Amino acid sequence: MKKSIAILKGDGIGPEIVDQTIKVLDAIADRYCHQFNYQEALIGGVSIDKKGVPLPEETIATCKSADAILLGAIGDPKFDNDPNATVRPEQGLLKIRKELGLFANVRPVKIYTSLESLSPLKKERLEGVDMVIYRELTGGIYFGKKTKNADSASDLCYYHKDEIERITKLAFDEATRRKFKLCLVDKANVLESSRLWRKVVQGMAAHYPEVEVSYLFVDNAAMQLILNPSQFDVILTSNMFGDILSDAASVLGGSIGLLPSASFGQTHKLYEPVHGSYPQAKGKNIANPMATILSAAMMLRDFGMEKEATAIEEAVEDCINLGITTEDINNDAANSCTEVAMALCNIIEGQSLHSTIRNL
Ligand code: IPM
Ligand code: MG
Repeated sequence: MKKSIAILKGDGIGPEIVDQTIKVLDAIADRYCHQFNYQEALIGGVSIDKKGVPLPEETIATCKSADAILLGAIGDPKFDNDPNATVRPEQGLLKIRKELGLFANVRPVKIYTSLESLSPLKKERLEGVDMVIYRELTGGIYFGKKTKNADSASDLCYYHKDEIERITKLAFDEATRRKFKLCLVDKANVLESSRLWRKVVQGMAAHYPEVEVSYLFVDNAAMQLILNPSQFDVILTSNMFGDILSDAASVLGGSIGLLPSASFGQTHKLYEPVHGSYPQAKGKNIANPMATILSAAMMLRDFGMEKEATAIEEAVEDCINLGITTEDINNDAANSCTEVAMALCNIIEGQSLHSTIRNL
């Protein structure tokens, strides 16, 4: 197969983790006879520095013409501490989500048994944890009307029922491919917009009698993710709650550096790690490339390349089991970002695990 992939490296560790992901994609292309063409484009702080804007028109055009988009990370501390800054890297990410209609953000949470000791939770609480968060990505408080005066400011949390319906349908469909459980997380005891979410979900539940539907207020959900995370299968939630809960859920497995995500809408698909730009690690070759590499696996699966996606996921699992990991996972005998990617490529190319370790 021939596929074109828009590459948005972004800020902080973005360029290094994406470069390593491209090596892994090239190893897949070699092994399974595919051709991946990469088109690089600017986004985030690096784009502000070069072009004055966080998302140039050329980037949108490149993304629209590609079969898929792979993104590294967005964010630079030099923009964070100035409340008066009118141009910010994150605006690039929000704009690309909106421009491409990427309304559904899918964040799977998986636990690797050999990393259980890294989890902040006790081992017995991790048993059976396997969930996926469906986060609405182009609506809610992130995109509602904003006001700003000298002494006051506001962000409106607005949802139209159609915006809720389209992601709710995807989440129900996902539940039917998984454990037939869906939990809507909202704040319906306080917010009108949350009550609209409940109404939509209740309406759709009638069409999915085989799916067990539950409802949690977001404060309780945050607690349940820590107390009893294995109760969750598909979590459906709004933009802001999904942002917060997915960071919380991401550390259950021990490192946010392992969590991939996919965002999609009617026509376009974007793949990016859940973690951020980790500016402290920039250029040090210590960042964990696995979340981006696993995001690329999600991309391949959506291309219909099931065995290729599985090959990446199995290689990641092999590396984790062999202890070939970056310092977020193994501080005592850490491998570098490039070494981890090299090991993954070796495994994908079919080299023995023994020689993979010896060559490091
Ligand atoms: C995420 C990030 C973004 C978000 C930021 C960088 C704007 O935290 O993708 O989870 O809030 O959506
Ligand atoms: Mg976030």
